[in-house]
Amino acid sequence: MTKLQARIIGTGSYLPEKVLSNRDLEEIVETSDEWIFTRTGMKERRIAAENEATSDMGYNAASKALEAAQLKADEIDLILCATLSPDHMFPSTACLIQEKLGAIGCAAVDIQAACSGYVYGLSMAKAYIESGLYKNVLVIASEKLSAFVDYEDRRTCVLFGDGAGACVVSNKGKGLLIHNVTLGADGKQSKLLILPAGGSRAPTSESTIAERQHYIQMEGQEVYKHAVRRMEKASYLAIERSGFQKEQINWLIPHQANIRIIEGLAKRFDISMDHVYVTVHKYGNTSASTIGIALDEMLAEKKLKKDEKILLTAFGAGLTWAASVLSYEE
Ligand SMILES: CC(C)(COP(=O)(O)OP(=O)(O)OC[C@H]1O[C@@H](n2cnc3c(N)ncnc32)[C@H](O)[C@@H]1OP(=O)(O)O)[C@@H](O)C(=O)NCCC(=O)NCCS
Repeated sequence: MTKLQARIIGTGSYLPEKVLSNRDLEEIVETSDEWIFTRTGMKERRIAAENEATSDMGYNAASKALEAAQLKADEIDLILCATLSPDHMFPSTACLIQEKLGAIGCAAVDIQAACSGYVYGLSMAKAYIESGLYKNVLVIASEKLSAFVDYEDRRTCVLFGDGAGACVVSNKGKGLLIHNVTLGADGKQSKLLILPAGGSRAPTSESTIAERQHYIQMEGQEVYKHAVRRMEKASYLAIERSGFQKEQINWLIPHQANIRIIEGLAKRFDISMDHVYVTVHKYGNTSASTIGIALDEMLAEKKLKKDEKILLTAFGAGLTWAASVLSYEE
């Protein structure tokens, strides 16, 4: 029997219309376009409409991925939705998207791996497909971070934006072969990036609201140090476990949190910046969604040549990290 191999056979993404520029943020907090751009590489980010939730954006991206894969909703076996900004604490956002797609009956579950969620999703999809349990897995990452960002905290509010990315991972067809996905986590560093209240540790109360504990809190510099180290190590492991050498990697799609982190990674892997796919200037950090959006845009631009290798790498709260090597089949 031939070995089952998981590949991405269709991608999609969705960005809300509203643009929040650095200049707009100057009106909200004490900051400047110059500070934000030189420290992060960001110019603007997208913000979801008031009546637009994470599942709505995820549905839009998922529909496009299914169309690209030429798959009907009833052919999906499993929906994985990576998000840290779900519509509700429960039910899962995956179930809400399943209903919108009309894929009633298939399995559906959320993944909480923060910014590493999309690549964690690829790993799970690959495992289900290569074990023979499922044929088609829909991986979605969707975030409405604007609902959890403190627009009185200039250290965090300038960084995040909203959006969604999705892909179909299948046991047949052509697209991007998933060679290896390497995952990791370090729960000892959980406090570096956290949304403290609203869960069972600190249920929402008047005092948690007064203390603004229901917003994202981050120790930026510490997170920065871990980000570079963890993504570099995971990337080396993923390349090695795929049976490749660093020199064989043609493209890099890293998590889009800060252009300085992205440039640092590109340098470590000797990849010139014209072979690094960057969206951070226009969408900011959309957490789990960044890699899904970037991959979809890159495929639409038809930049890839046959057999070229792409390195994905992500990092986020948890702490979590992930890396994967894909190759283009046509
Ligand atoms: C958040 C981040 C951009 C901050 O950049 P930095 O160079 O580390 O900046 P610092 O936090 O040291 O702050 C430097 C100064 O700028 C100030 N500052 C912070 N945010 C500011 C803003 N939006 N506008 C103007 N000044 C700001 C700080 O108050 C500080 O001032 P001080 O020296 O007077 O105290 C950076 O640390 C980062 O990208 N971290 C990693 C984020 C990440 O990877 N996340 C991934 C998981 S999602």
